[in-house]
Amino acid sequence: MWVTRVCQFGVGARSESPAPFAGRGYLSNVPERRKLIVVSNRGPVGFSRDHAGKRVARRGGGGLVTALRSLVSHHDVTWVASAIGDEDRAVAAEAEGKAINETARDGSAYRLRFVDHDAAAYDWFYNVVSNPILWFLQHYLWNLAEAPNIDHGLHHAWKDGYVPVNAGFAKAVLAELELEPGATVFFHDYHLYLAPRHVREARPDAALAHFVHIPWPQPDLWHVLPTSIRCAIHDGLLANDVVGFHTPRWRRNFLQASEHLLGADCDYDVGCAEYGGRRVVVSSHPISVDPQEFDELATSDAVLAAEREIVARRPEKLILRVDRTDPSKNVVRGFRAFELYLESHPAMHGRVAMLALLDPSRQDIPEYAEYLGAIQRAARVVNDRFQRDGWIPIDLRIRDDFLRVVAAYKQFDVLLVNAIFDGLNLVAKEAPLLNTRDGVVILSENAGAHHELGEWVISVNPFDLSGQAEAIHTALELPAAERRERLEAIREHVREHDLGAWIAAQLADFDRTAAPTMQPG
Ligand code: F6P
Repeated sequence: MWVTRVCQFGVGARSESPAPFAGRGYLSNVPERRKLIVVSNRGPVGFSRDHAGKRVARRGGGGLVTALRSLVSHHDVTWVASAIGDEDRAVAAEAEGKAINETARDGSAYRLRFVDHDAAAYDWFYNVVSNPILWFLQHYLWNLAEAPNIDHGLHHAWKDGYVPVNAGFAKAVLAELELEPGATVFFHDYHLYLAPRHVREARPDAALAHFVHIPWPQPDLWHVLPTSIRCAIHDGLLANDVVGFHTPRWRRNFLQASEHLLGADCDYDVGCAEYGGRRVVVSSHPISVDPQEFDELATSDAVLAAEREIVARRPEKLILRVDRTDPSKNVVRGFRAFELYLESHPAMHGRVAMLALLDPSRQDIPEYAEYLGAIQRAARVVNDRFQRDGWIPIDLRIRDDFLRVVAAYKQFDVLLVNAIFDGLNLVAKEAPLLNTRDGVVILSENAGAHHELGEWVISVNPFDLSGQAEAIHTALELPAAERRERLEAIREHVREHDLGAWIAAQLADFDRTAAPTMQPG
């Protein structure tokens, strides 16, 4: 959910207040240090120039980067990422394509290698294939009677965008493996499905893992894509030693699709696929957060100031949603459900409001720009219909404002997460950690986090508007003791299953690949 935040190097907007880290290594369950080559499209930082022309680093956006940042504190990391902006490209050129030495905000040293792709290839890779095609497919976002159209443009964007950008990543990884032949390579997400195959071909013995942070859809849906593309995607992933997902649901879909599309021999209980003469561990471990980071941030001056502002404006009951403006997040249906709730509960007019803190996302892609417009229109409809005497039912903020998000986490009575499909949804874990009002979480049954938190949330079908309206009512009316119990149970779970535990589980999967007998996982 995070996007770009301008910051001095090493201090992201998550800590525009004094850096929250007193030291390092505070996560639980972290295994011994390893040499890791972490590979993701968006890097941990990106560079730009400030008003004075000075180069500044801003923290890379997205839950993925947020979550992986802790790897740097606990392991010897070289991070390979796309040079996205002009200044990233300048940094890459100055380093002659090699890695540069960087320091994380907790003082940990790591190496960062930017891959400077051809600009047109990167545009096809990101704005044509990765997001409007792969993201849409994997979140079931198409109305198949209308989209997608697999035309010359898509074939071209695949061949001259997705394929060469992945090859560029693989080349950079191979160069890093020359320097550190024993390092473990840790690929991330839907941008990089082809890179592992390239690396495997050049280095049959390399230790390769891939974590997919988004849902894996059922096998039939892959038939929307041409055979060559859908097979290349599954073949690329199966070049790894380990493929990880957030939930057993996405893992099962991947195994089924691999069996169906490639004839892989899959063991669903153990979680492995035999393919091309190799055995691949396919596991599920839900990612998590670093509770201490949030605890420290929650009491920072900047968050306290933002919280005072929210408290001054809030009505008696506050419903919060925090999302990127992504069609998969289902913001429009959330507003319509709130409208239905207001329609049937006139006594709550003036007493309840929804605060929607939305991060503008991927606005170069028409589908995303249109969805942002739809969000604005939907909020307007509700506000025009119900607002009175200074009460505005939906307070819509379209801005990347992480400090306000953290402040709002403390203040919600109801958190609405109604994603159509979501790999995990970290908001559902972060917000309860900080909440001070025994807030209730309404959670989509199609968010990966539902697998873990289901028994303590109010579950909703993301397409069912009246069900969501009813869930809002139920959440607002729950007895105080039950609200507290549910919230505390979520907190306890998240603290116990923190980011350190996730990292440990990923690395343990590598060890399973080396083990003679595989254990169920
Ligand atoms: O896994 C999905 C993800 O990569 C998350 O890290 C993040 O929420 C989002 O997508 C960021 O997307 P982008 O890099 O396109 O802004």
